[in-house]
Amino acid sequence: MNRKTLIALACISSFLVAAPVSEEHAISKGAAASAALLQKLGGEVKTNMQANGPVKTVEFCSLNALSLTDQIAKETKTQIKRLSLKNRNPVNAAAGEEKALLEKWEKMVQNGQSLPSHELKKTADGGMVYYKPLLINNEACLKCHGNIAEGSPLTQAIRSTYPEDKAVGYKMGDLRGMIEVKISQ
Ligand code: HEC
Repeated sequence: MNRKTLIALACISSFLVAAPVSEEHAISKGAAASAALLQKLGGEVKTNMQANGPVKTVEFCSLNALSLTDQIAKETKTQIKRLSLKNRNPVNAAAGEEKALLEKWEKMVQNGQSLPSHELKKTADGGMVYYKPLLINNEACLKCHGNIAEGSPLTQAIRSTYPEDKAVGYKMGDLRGMIEVKISQ
């Protein structure tokens, strides 16, 4: 191989191998993406609750929460998931490492310790994952995730869409789950 070919190959490979994502960059992107998601979903739930009440809002969430999450992911050039140990939507069930991390946080909450604002993990391909704990920090969440009356129209609406629903019985300060943000650029 001559020198020119070597230089050409070196240039091409430097384009192909992306620089690893720094911790600083991952924290700023993870924080921005999770804040944007909370603002979007929280805003939509609030507007719908006021205009149409909880039963219609459950329907709204079941139809739109995942696509709104994908929309924010696209806007922030990340991949975003909401995960929980006691999930409502089966798509949001935590497994593997994320389940273990939620179990660790759950123990901390039960011991009265405060949770970190986030945790980070490096991925094998040079990316980063940003995990943000989500607490029940608003009474409004309890309307649909607290102790909701058996047989009420709201319970019926939730059960008919999510027969395996585990996301009830929460109280203020409980760990509801996490937002996971994957940052690869
Ligand atoms: C009108 C009822 C309603 C209210 C109010 C509500 N949720 Fe939910 N929540 C749902 C429904 C329905 C789902 C399942 C659909 C989805 O979002 O994927 C859900 C899913 C979630 C999930 C994803 C994990 C899972 O269980 O599937 C999280 C996290 C969550 N809610 C947190 C909250 C928080 C925090 C609040 C208060 C700020 C809140 N919710 C208020 C109905 C509600």
